[in-house]
Amino acid sequence: MHPMLNIAVRAARAAGNLIARNIGQQDTFEVATKNKDDLVTSIDKQCEKVIVDTLLKSFRDHGIIAEEGGVQGNPDSEYQWIIDPIDGTTNFVQGIPHCAVSIALRHNGKTEIGVVFDPMANEMFTAARGSGAFLNGRRIRVGSRDSLDGAIIGTAFPTRYRDRMHAYLELFSRLISNCADVRRMGAASLDLCYVACGRFDGYLEQGLKAWDFSAGDLILREAGGIVTDFMGEPNYVKSGNVVSGNPKVLRALLQVCDVQNLPAILK
Ligand code: IPD
Ligand code: CA
Ligand code: CA
Ligand code: CA
Repeated sequence: MHPMLNIAVRAARAAGNLIARNIGQQDTFEVATKNKDDLVTSIDKQCEKVIVDTLLKSFRDHGIIAEEGGVQGNPDSEYQWIIDPIDGTTNFVQGIPHCAVSIALRHNGKTEIGVVFDPMANEMFTAARGSGAFLNGRRIRVGSRDSLDGAIIGTAFPTRYRDRMHAYLELFSRLISNCADVRRMGAASLDLCYVACGRFDGYLEQGLKAWDFSAGDLILREAGGIVTDFMGEPNYVKSGNVVSGNPKVLRALLQVCDVQNLPAILK
């Protein structure tokens, strides 16, 4: 295994243990609200600390961009780790066993390593650029569906940007009319990994942050998937507006999104 991936996996497991020991036990941790409906718990912070400490112990000169603590380490390094200590904090607080640790490494802006660990399912998704994607060490690939017929699509309501809700609901209505069904699971990193291993046929969401999607994005692309923004362009890295699937499902999803006729706020 890629030596840096190895250490990222170790960091993800350490944080995952904390998640598994505390999930749903609201009397054992503190919960605060960052923005409306965006929760942070004392366990998010502990997980982040364990990950940052593990990474910086091995890679003193690297930089860190983490959801809760922001920029840490060396901000000028070519190597930047992007960390979501608990992706799916609301599920974690509520005791819904679907959340993950997400760790990605960018080298000169390009994602080289991605780790997404679901401690409740004991599922470790990993990828190093050019070497394929894996679930618990076994190679994974996207599904082979060639249209939205029968397709299960992951998505999420844009609760971070409630001003987009009306436009999103228009899109949602088109989506549900064209595929078999939709899932809203609550952890974006796992949504991308579920497409990577064929559990979902596609996934779309808007307004994600780098820590939500960076690791899952690489895992999905290494599994043969494609990720774009709603215009079919690579600009999702900046906008956080993500559409994904195998090449055929992606094309069908973009058609359903009908970007030309989509409210501008969704683009
Ligand atoms: C959230 C989850 C959720 C997605 C939100 C994210 P968090 O991350 O990934 O599925 O819909 O956009 O903010 O805040 O639990 O790390
Ligand atoms: Ca959050
Ligand atoms: Ca997240
Ligand atoms: Ca988080």
